[in-house]
Amino acid sequence: MTRGGDTRVIAPRAASLIESMRSIGYSLRTAAADVIDNSVTAGARKIELLADTDSELPALGILDDGAGMDEAELMEAMRPGTRSPLDGRATTDLGRFGLGLKTASFSQCRRLTVVTRRNGTTSCAIWDLDTVAERNEWLVEIPGDHATLPWFERLGSSGTLVVWQKLDRLTGTDDSRGNLVRQIDETASHVEFVFHRFMSERSGQRRIRILLNGRELAPFDPFHSHHPATQAGPLEKIPFRGTTIRIQPYTLPHHTKVSPAEWDRYGGPEGYARNQGFYLYRNRRLIVHGTWFGMARQSEVAKLCRVRIDIPNSLDAEWKIDVRKASAQPPPRVRERLRQIIDPIIAPSKRTYTVRGKRLIEDNELPVWTRTQNKNEIFYGLNLEHPLFAGFMDTLDQSDKQEFRRLIGLIVSTLPIDALFADIGEKPENVAGQTLDGDNFAEIVMSTYRALRKGGFSSDKAMSMMQSAEPFRSNWPRAEEMIETIERTEG
Ligand SMILES: Nc1ncnc2c1ncn2[C@@H]1O[C@H](COP(=O)(O)OP(=O)(O)O)[C@@H](O)[C@H]1O
Ligand SMILES: [Mg+2]
Repeated sequence: MTRGGDTRVIAPRAASLIESMRSIGYSLRTAAADVIDNSVTAGARKIELLADTDSELPALGILDDGAGMDEAELMEAMRPGTRSPLDGRATTDLGRFGLGLKTASFSQCRRLTVVTRRNGTTSCAIWDLDTVAERNEWLVEIPGDHATLPWFERLGSSGTLVVWQKLDRLTGTDDSRGNLVRQIDETASHVEFVFHRFMSERSGQRRIRILLNGRELAPFDPFHSHHPATQAGPLEKIPFRGTTIRIQPYTLPHHTKVSPAEWDRYGGPEGYARNQGFYLYRNRRLIVHGTWFGMARQSEVAKLCRVRIDIPNSLDAEWKIDVRKASAQPPPRVRERLRQIIDPIIAPSKRTYTVRGKRLIEDNELPVWTRTQNKNEIFYGLNLEHPLFAGFMDTLDQSDKQEFRRLIGLIVSTLPIDALFADIGEKPENVAGQTLDGDNFAEIVMSTYRALRKGGFSSDKAMSMMQSAEPFRSNWPRAEEMIETIERTEG
């Protein structure tokens, strides 16, 4: 304070500040997750999301069987900024700013009721933004009875029920009911994702069940970590300010290793490329996902790569966790380390793709297609040395030969690479080459084999060359049988 000066209290205007608190940037899903955080912190074993979308006045509720609050605690809980973000927290606490209950709720509704029970005592308090606006005072209502509150009868011997009414933000548009229902479904998926580690069985700890209108939600593990084809990289521990940050890389299974339904599920609506990157968990609760924090590009070859980072709640300021718990940034020292390990982390995923791609062409002794790399350019072409092409060209006269080369040149120069890339990026399992019918296949097996033998290769060598090449490789038992027949009949 300046010497000789004075102080004045300039309190916020209740009516305007409380309206502004609505616009921190929550969506229904992040708001619901923030309220669920409180239930998890309160030791709940069962959390119920309740939605009444049919009635004239729709309402949403979040009910838990946690520790509940006594009346004094409830009054504190209703206070915006009840605890300072600078205070230390229990290691299992998912809170930080002393705001979430209020800001998350106000972002979706104008009337927040909290009813809670502990040791047989039930307490209830209501923030109604219309009352605050009218009186321009921070007035919490304490109702005389709560019989009319939706789902009140569901509250157990201890626990808390949060009810949102006057859902002006959710029901403001034309198609409001449909929109509300859709957003609730998306919220359920978000919850299955954000809280998956609490919802799955874990040794020594009981799991938390979360239900939506009685339907049990299922945890969604973005690493598909129990699938045998998922590769877990080495666990890296970074010591930081007396704590340990744990980095666990995963490479998800290639699409040939999972069912189409699984492939879709783990790719999510945005697809694999957009979901690669770091997955940051604070106290096992997901904060951000699918980002390299600006340290690498999301690339097609690294799209199977997902890296779990675990941090404790004591590093919130360093990681710049925001009020919504929906954004974060690594502190500079951790960033340095992450930058060093990104390349080795991405390597297995890259290998899954490039090795497959290269092997298809390079280990092939009898390629139909060639791949040549020249500095930064990669060309695909047809291999006119292939015995079938070479043999065919031998039957042509000079001008037909030229015409044939021109046609091949046309095919090769118009390969629809962009379309292929887009299709494969989006739905690789749906992209297939045209298959040869049985007669054509037999014809090609026989003429290739004969051409190779005529070219002076032993029968073993001819067979091994063909086995490394398409279209024989993927139909090898059939091709082999045909070759044996030729050997028997033609010797
Ligand atoms: N479901 C609940 N069960 C028990 N206590 C709760 C519950 N929800 C909120 N509280 C209490 O209210 C306080 C304020 O919650 P909130 O505004 O979300 O801030 P924060 O979670 O950052 O502390 C919590 O610290 C907790 O003490
Ligand atoms: Mg909270």
